[in-house]
Amino acid sequence: MSEKPWDGRFEEKTDAAVEAFTSSIDIDRRLYTHDIDGSIAHCRMLAKAAIITGTEAETLIDGLEKIRGEIAGGHFAFSDRLEDIHMHIEDRLAAHVGNVSRKLHTARSRNDQVALDERLYLRDAVRKIIQGLVDLRKILVEMADQHIHVVMPGYTHLQRAQPVLFSHHLMAYYEMFSRDTRRFEDGLKRTNVMPLGAAALAGTTYPIDRFYTAGLLGFPEICENSMDAVSDRDFIMEFLASASICMVHFSRFSEELVMWSSSEFKFIELSDGFSTGSSIMPQKKNPDVPELVRGKTGRVFGALISLLTLMKSLPMAYNRDMQEDKGPLFDAVDTLTACLDIYTRMLPKIKINGEQMESALSTGYINATDMADYLVCRGMPFREAHGCVGRAVSYGLSHGKELHEMTLPELRSFSGLIEEDIFPALTNRQMIDRRQSFGGTATENVRAAIDRARQRVADEE
Ligand code: ARG
Repeated sequence: MSEKPWDGRFEEKTDAAVEAFTSSIDIDRRLYTHDIDGSIAHCRMLAKAAIITGTEAETLIDGLEKIRGEIAGGHFAFSDRLEDIHMHIEDRLAAHVGNVSRKLHTARSRNDQVALDERLYLRDAVRKIIQGLVDLRKILVEMADQHIHVVMPGYTHLQRAQPVLFSHHLMAYYEMFSRDTRRFEDGLKRTNVMPLGAAALAGTTYPIDRFYTAGLLGFPEICENSMDAVSDRDFIMEFLASASICMVHFSRFSEELVMWSSSEFKFIELSDGFSTGSSIMPQKKNPDVPELVRGKTGRVFGALISLLTLMKSLPMAYNRDMQEDKGPLFDAVDTLTACLDIYTRMLPKIKINGEQMESALSTGYINATDMADYLVCRGMPFREAHGCVGRAVSYGLSHGKELHEMTLPELRSFSGLIEEDIFPALTNRQMIDRRQSFGGTATENVRAAIDRARQRVADEE
């Protein structure tokens, strides 16, 4: 097949500029091993259905395996003339096995072939991403366990709000990444459906057995409608949506790591191996890894928007526009995979500055809610208690005193309900450990959450 497969109908050769413009080989060569897997399963099915002979199938399969070796070994010549990976492999097959190679494409079109390759590729990629998320969650659980005694301010509006355990904060990220895991698993169900056998769009006149091919390729389901099979890219959009949400989580976490490692916070220190310096300012140690993760988030959002835009006006069924789906897909897979990998390496090496986190609790009237709760426990309605503590805070602000730094008579000037036992009630430890509502930050709750998560991650491994 040295000329184009469509030569029969054409009188002029394809213009070289068109060959370059329509070629996707630089991008879709990545699908070669999945393309070969799909072709091998297709050959076996053709032989089983007596569309080709068993000997022909074996010859084709041998040739395909040789090509796999050639591409993997880096001695395979790619050229724009052959447009995409499917045509490259078919062309090379002729060199290996001769004329019988022309039978491989029986009952198949590149339209169902490319859809198959993408689903096989994404199925593998998502399984690796899920494994990466499990590893990351495991690291978060172990960090939370290791630092269970570290207390820090919890923030709303980036203002100190109430004390929480640092572990509770980490376990919030565990929850986000758990949802991501579930989302990828769920999307995988819709990726793991076989389009092959739809042929160009309408099915085929040959007596193919799609269920047999699906069994060989490990697909639990096959696409029900041949037109949908070749034109559906929902599985890619869905993956990119899940990947974008996962990147939102990475980006938020990265933002916190950047803030926490600043001189203003000093809550953590990134290890030297995961930071870089400045070429001009000798004192600098920059959090480039979380910054880049935060920055790379945009690429994944961009991939999602590309796919949505690509698909939104396409009439049924296959349209060449769809060739443009692979660049964004591969880029998003690579970006997310790289972020997962670097995070699982970086997190265990972070130094946690527990004393600094705790000292950030000593100012900012972080125990104001607890003083109000104290008054409520002694019979004052909450709104009244809120006003009373508000006055105490205002007094403190003008006298340069935190609530726990005031004397008992000072505090009693705001309410006679206040007794000596207010002071232990305003300590970090008590404030945290009283928050025992399910999902709250009390140490015993967080320990239980860690135990549940550890069990869950072990079950998923
Ligand atoms: N390279 C093409 C793609 O990625 C393969 C399918 C081509 N089909 C066609 N009818 N030209 O979409």
